[in-house]
Amino acid sequence: MLDILILLGSTREGRKTDRVARAVESRLKNRDVETHLFDLKENPLPILGKRRFNDDSPHPNTEKLGSLIEDTEVLLIISPEYNHSYPGSLKNALDHFYPEFEDLLFAYMTTSAGGFGGIRQQSHLHDFTLAVSGVPGPSLPVSNLQNHFSEEGKITSEEYEKRIEDFLNEIIEHVP
Ligand SMILES: Cc1cc2nc3c(=O)[nH]c(=O)nc-3n(C[C@H](O)[C@H](O)[C@H](O)COP(=O)(O)O)c2cc1C
Repeated sequence: MLDILILLGSTREGRKTDRVARAVESRLKNRDVETHLFDLKENPLPILGKRRFNDDSPHPNTEKLGSLIEDTEVLLIISPEYNHSYPGSLKNALDHFYPEFEDLLFAYMTTSAGGFGGIRQQSHLHDFTLAVSGVPGPSLPVSNLQNHFSEEGKITSEEYEKRIEDFLNEIIEHVP
């Protein structure tokens, strides 16, 4: 069974991007896909001291995320845009790993409360992916996310019902 790991990059109090991650998780569960949602707010990683492959006793959350990355076929990053990039908490988490990412397919959902869909972080996420020898895959920008996803993590607009189904199909088509 295909395995897709969702990494939620929003950790702030009052965040909204968790709505998108929960909606996508439930859509994947309706398909023949094994899925895990790793929430960096619930499972924070320490500020980088040693990368996991160099660390004899990694933090349990680092070990948990590292094992999930090793076992997955797709890493789907769902991330808000902060100051035209992706959040520092997400960068810190990603930097704990390196060999774990080799040849892994990445997909991206970038979010914003405004009209640009968090798109300005996209090239930064691509650069990260290439730096760790991953494979950049499909992406979906989500503008005005509060208009399309409820606090309960449900999709509330037909537009995004379709966009997300199309996006998940595109991810599955990209899996080698
Ligand atoms: C530190 C910070 C920086 C932000 N910078 C941007 C930005 O550069 N572009 C943008 O569209 N929205 C920006 N926003 C607003 C986000 O679009 C908004 O927080 C949105 O709800 C998605 O992120 P969330 O998961 O934090 O809620 C920023 C928000 C914060 C907290």
